[in-house]
Amino acid sequence: MKKIYYLPLILALLLVTGATAKASGYEKDDHEHDEHEHKSEKKPELDYDHEKYPFYPSLMNTHTGKAVKSTDFTSPDTCKECHTEIYNQWKGSMHSNAWHDPVFQALWRLGNKETGGLTEKLCAGCHTAIGVTSEEILLRDEKGDYDISEIAQHGVQCDVCHSIREATYKDTESNEPHNATFIIEPGDIKRGPYKDAKSDFHKTAYSELHTKAKLCGNCHHVFHPLNNFPIERTYDEWKNSVYAQNGIVCQDCHMATIEDAIETARTLKKVKHPGKAANNGPMREHVASHYFVGANFTVPALLGAPKHADMAKKRLQSAAKLEIIPPKELKAGKLGKVRVKVTNIAAGHNLPTSLTEVRQMWLEVKVTDTKDKTILHSGWLDKEHKLEPDTIIFHAYAMDAENKHTIKPWEVVRFDYNNTIPPKGSATSIYSFVVPADAAGKLKVAVRLRYRSYPQEVANFLLGKDAPVLPIVDMVKAQTEIAVN
Ligand code: HEC
Ligand code: HEC
Ligand code: HEC
Ligand code: HEC
Ligand code: HEC
Repeated sequence: MKKIYYLPLILALLLVTGATAKASGYEKDDHEHDEHEHKSEKKPELDYDHEKYPFYPSLMNTHTGKAVKSTDFTSPDTCKECHTEIYNQWKGSMHSNAWHDPVFQALWRLGNKETGGLTEKLCAGCHTAIGVTSEEILLRDEKGDYDISEIAQHGVQCDVCHSIREATYKDTESNEPHNATFIIEPGDIKRGPYKDAKSDFHKTAYSELHTKAKLCGNCHHVFHPLNNFPIERTYDEWKNSVYAQNGIVCQDCHMATIEDAIETARTLKKVKHPGKAANNGPMREHVASHYFVGANFTVPALLGAPKHADMAKKRLQSAAKLEIIPPKELKAGKLGKVRVKVTNIAAGHNLPTSLTEVRQMWLEVKVTDTKDKTILHSGWLDKEHKLEPDTIIFHAYAMDAENKHTIKPWEVVRFDYNNTIPPKGSATSIYSFVVPADAAGKLKVAVRLRYRSYPQEVANFLLGKDAPVLPIVDMVKAQTEIAVN
């Protein structure tokens, strides 16, 4: 019965096309698996400047233009001795888990298989820069598995960021930071935001780059190296935002408490956080937090970082505003329409951002009558935790060269649509239904904006038997009653 009233008139007033209905058509991918493995046998010859890009397709380089040793880097455990608070914040962040993250591992290994190893250094360049600059990523243990040193397994760590000497994106065709366009110089000098820092343990150097979004954009801007398609565009979304216009950078929200970030999003002003940068250092007017919390609450919880998971939930719950816009009137037996408006109030980039081809942020809308009978229900999950096909999802729908849906980054050539919500922008969706002829009194409209890190079928595909039932966060809820005339 529900389906009859639930006319297929739902449309979002954005770039949504009819493709919304196929939004969870992931299984198709599975089928095509063999075919793609076949293709990988003819590994294309890559044409590139070997001197400029010794770790191609990752665009990173070292100060010597050659591989360095992983022992040239210092472990976070050493930094911890004097920067205890910063270490405790970083430990458990997605940066610290960038290599161990099981979702990364699964997709990376699949990519390496399907492309004959072409994606190996590309992906690892951002997820373990030490593994790539030391070329340990090429080593295998006796079982034939990857064999990288303990330090390289710490992912995006202290001595990766604080050894970045300069950005090299100006030499690239896009002229934008992407695919690790930086030079890394491990050693004595730790580069950071202070002009007067002194330490007995290491030299220090002021680095303007570390106070800019460009530093983050080197990794938070992922292009397909062969067709140049920007798959993860967080940096670009930010660059074209009101935040960039007002000098508000990634650090102001992601290296700050959630409360301060909310304040910054509202006022477009930075909030100072006084404290000590080192246990024995002087008091500073501002110390940046190293929690680096984004939206991922699933993997931190799996990897034993519940505090980071909770902070990610809070960040998500701060990001959007939800409004139900009722029709002027609602008549029994006639078509009724309710508008639902989602505004991106606190994200300095699109909502959601980055892996928009897999993240799921969607609307659940339920209209019921006074007897609690359902008149419309959209955005529900079936028994397999899949979203019903007509759900309005804010995401990007990625396509491969054969015009088929894909979530494998190495196959992506374009987006069929991208209806993520720009910074301070909004998206309005219309829900239509027939008001029952016998409806009397008021109809109740209840709406939730929900988020999960991946579609359940993607998690099942990548993690197999180990896949958990994915947790969901309700970002924001709204409810209203509309009188029937
Ligand atoms: C230019 C740097 C860069 C490159 C190259 C890169 N990544 Fe990432 N990757 C990131 C960043 C930054 C994130 C975090 C985005 C987010 O979580 O929103 C990320 C997140 C991910 C995630 C999501 C993990 C999770 O727990 O949800 C997966 C999976 C992943 N990358 C796989 C890959 C694969 C496979 C490749 C190569 C084909 C690759 N990455 C190449 C920077 C990069
Ligand atoms: C993803 C890159 C990144 C990682 C990983 C990272 N930092 Fe930082 N760090 C920064 C940036 C950027 C700043 C400057 C932020 C600002 O002032 O806006 C900074 C600032 C600092 C400062 C100056 C004080 C402060 O907090 O502002 C110290 C000390 C520091 N980091 C130490 C560490 C240590 C120790 C680790 C590892 C436990 C670490 N960092 C991991 C990017 C990073
Ligand atoms: C023996 C103690 C000690 C150890 C170990 C140590 N630091 Fe420091 N570090 C300091 C002190 C002290 C300062 C100065 C703090 C200040 O002036 O506020 C400092 C400052 C910094 C700064 C700020 C530089 C600037 O100019 O802005 C960075 C970045 C930094 N350390 C990174 C690291 C990293 C990365 C490690 C590990 C590889 C590390 N430190 C290990 C004591 C230490
Ligand atoms: C060397 C590459 C690199 C640099 C530089 C870098 N990141 Fe990341 N960042 C990553 C990777 C890789 C991940 C994701 C790891 C994963 O999900 O497996 C990530 C994850 C994150 C996340 C968590 C995303 C989520 O889904 O919750 C945030 C927030 C973040 N980075 C912010 C920053 C900020 C802010 C800066 C600049 C100060 C920065 N990053 C610099 C590589 C980098
Ligand atoms: C005004 C505050 C603000 C600024 C500036 C900002 N962010 Fe965010 N960021 C957020 C909020 C809020 C979220 C949670 C909602 C979401 O996922 O978009 C978030 C989420 C993220 C995520 C996780 C996305 C996901 O769904 O997996 C990444 C990665 C990230 N930010 C990186 C960055 C980078 C890199 C920059 C700078 C280029 C940046 N952010 C600038 C507020 C901000």
